[in-house]
Parts: sequence; structure tokens; C-alpha cells
Amino acid sequence: MKLYIACDHAAIGMKNEITAYLREKSYDVEDLGINEGEKIDYPVAAEKVAKKVVADSGSKGILICGTGIGMSIAANKVKGIRAAAVSEVYSAKLTRIHNDTNVLCFGARVIGIETAKMIVDAYLEAEFEGGRHAARVALIEKLEENFK
Ligand code: RB5
Repeated sequence: MKLYIACDHAAIGMKNEITAYLREKSYDVEDLGINEGEKIDYPVAAEKVAKKVVADSGSKGILICGTGIGMSIAANKVKGIRAAAVSEVYSAKLTRIHNDTNVLCFGARVIGIETAKMIVDAYLEAEFEGGRHAARVALIEKLEENFK
């Protein structure tokens, strides 16, 4: 599975650790920055990942800022993106199974690195269940169409 990851200046260390962790597990991770010494506004970082995920069917995105919230708000403005900001494993898993999200967001100022690793594992190992959940995701897509 192809993964795109990015962060703002609040989360460079965590982004680097998570990138290394996922590569160690043989995921194909494209690091879209930023790196030590750089600064970026979170909507700009979110746009970079969101565009890649929309253009690359089946891929997933990971966005890390201070809280994960700004990244999720920004990414969700891009058509075709369903992003969730999570701080624990249960929501990370369920947002794949029920919401079919394609972008995972979390906050480097909210959770520690070990929780972040558990969250990405839970997220990437879970599969969308479809069925009644697909009908609900279709309703989300309808909102996207109706409120362009
Ligand atoms: C940057 O200071 C901070 O606002 C950002 O990382 C994020 O937490 C926004 O949601």
C-alpha cells in the first residue's frame, strides 16, 4: 500500500519516526515534508497529501500537526478525501472499518510516539467493511456534491 505522509513544524520529529517505523515494516512511504528547520502552515501540508491520495487510487495519507485537528479540517475540504483526527486505537481502527477514511491525522502535542505507532498499525491493518457503511459513505459523497 502506497502511503503519503506530511507534517507541520509542530510534528517534524514524530513524522520522521513514523516514516522510519512504517518503512521498517516495508510500507512504501513518500515523505512530503517538512524537515528540520522548515515551517509550513498545516493547510498547505494537508493539501499536498490530499492531492496525492486523490490521484493515487488505493493509497492512504498520514498528516501530523500539533493536534491533528487542523490537518483533518483542511484535508476534508478536498473532494474525495475522508480524513479523521484520532488519538486512540479504537477510533483509528473504526474509522477505516466504518468511515472508509483515506487520511489519518493525529497530534504530536497530544499523543506520544508509542501510541502513534499503535494508531498507524491499527489504521493500516483494518479494512472497510462495506454493506450498511457503504451506504453512509455514499451519503457523505452526496453532501460533497451538493455543497461544492
Ligand atoms: C501550529 O502551532 C498548530 O496550530 C498546528 O500544528 C495544529 O495543531 C493545528 O491544528
